[in-house]
Amino acid sequence: METVGKKHIRTIAITSGKGGVGKTNITANLAIGFRKLNKKVMILDADLGLSNIDVILNLATRYNIKDLFSGEKRLKDLIVEGPQGIKVLPASSGIQELTSLDEFQRLRLIEEFDSYDNDMDILLIDTASGISANVAFFCMAAQEIIVVTSPEPTAITDAYALIKVLFTQYQEKNFKILVNSVKNSKEATWVYKSLSTAAERFLSISLDYLGYLPYDNAVTKAVRAQKALIEIYPDSDVSKSLIEIAARLCNDNNDNVKGTLQFFLGNLLKDGRDVRI
Ligand SMILES: Nc1ncnc2c1ncn2[C@@H]1O[C@H](COP(=O)(O)OP(=O)(O)OP(=O)(O)O)[C@@H](O)[C@H]1O
Ligand SMILES: [Mg+2]
Repeated sequence: METVGKKHIRTIAITSGKGGVGKTNITANLAIGFRKLNKKVMILDADLGLSNIDVILNLATRYNIKDLFSGEKRLKDLIVEGPQGIKVLPASSGIQELTSLDEFQRLRLIEEFDSYDNDMDILLIDTASGISANVAFFCMAAQEIIVVTSPEPTAITDAYALIKVLFTQYQEKNFKILVNSVKNSKEATWVYKSLSTAAERFLSISLDYLGYLPYDNAVTKAVRAQKALIEIYPDSDVSKSLIEIAARLCNDNNDNVKGTLQFFLGNLLKDGRDVRI
């Protein structure tokens, strides 16, 4: 059903059990992939880590979401523009505060976003890795969850552990698996099968296979150059796969999973969230 006056946007959390498996690069490049498909995209950088979106894309961020809560800045002052007009909202250093906003601060955040939602089709959330309360917030507030894993056994085990917690403690059943840094499609399928077999057997849920990205030195080179991979190596296999994945996500765009930005924020900020992990 349409919500009068509110645009429906898609909110997708990109997460992983183990760190360093490629979330931030995937988020940044998927965002550019979506732009190429004429979608308006914003990235919510929700990771406290060091190698954040602004670093990999060499963006000068001056303020953080914290400055909104204090009432000193407006949302438009915080948002920085990246390649191809993607928008980035740095939230990392305000994340802890998100859990303890007072009513006034919450309203302020929601109002600020209200004035922005016509400028967005997709909100991508780059989360931290691992099983923390913050990761759970963002995953549960988003409509879709992409779990990134590499073929390393530790990454697969940690991805499973994350899925298990989100299922058993938060009743989340829908996960899209993206296997990064693989040699070939066979290896990716093997990783997906290992995860999905365990999820079916022990949790009775089936996992969706979103696809895979090959291991490619172009990724590291782009990170070092602080440029978007898709922009500087558009012909690399990994760039082509990223564009395909963006297109696949757009195609299986299911109206059932769409909600308003207000709905996402409401979920994120709602009282009485169970944050015990
Ligand atoms: N497909 C790939 N091929 C080769 N190297 C890759 C690939 N994907 C990621 N990498 C390498 O892994 C590094 C870590 O990637 P990234 O920072 O995106 O991971 P992350 O999951 O966001 O990490 P963190 O958990 O610290 O936030 C990159 O700097 C890059 O060198
Ligand atoms: Mg990261």
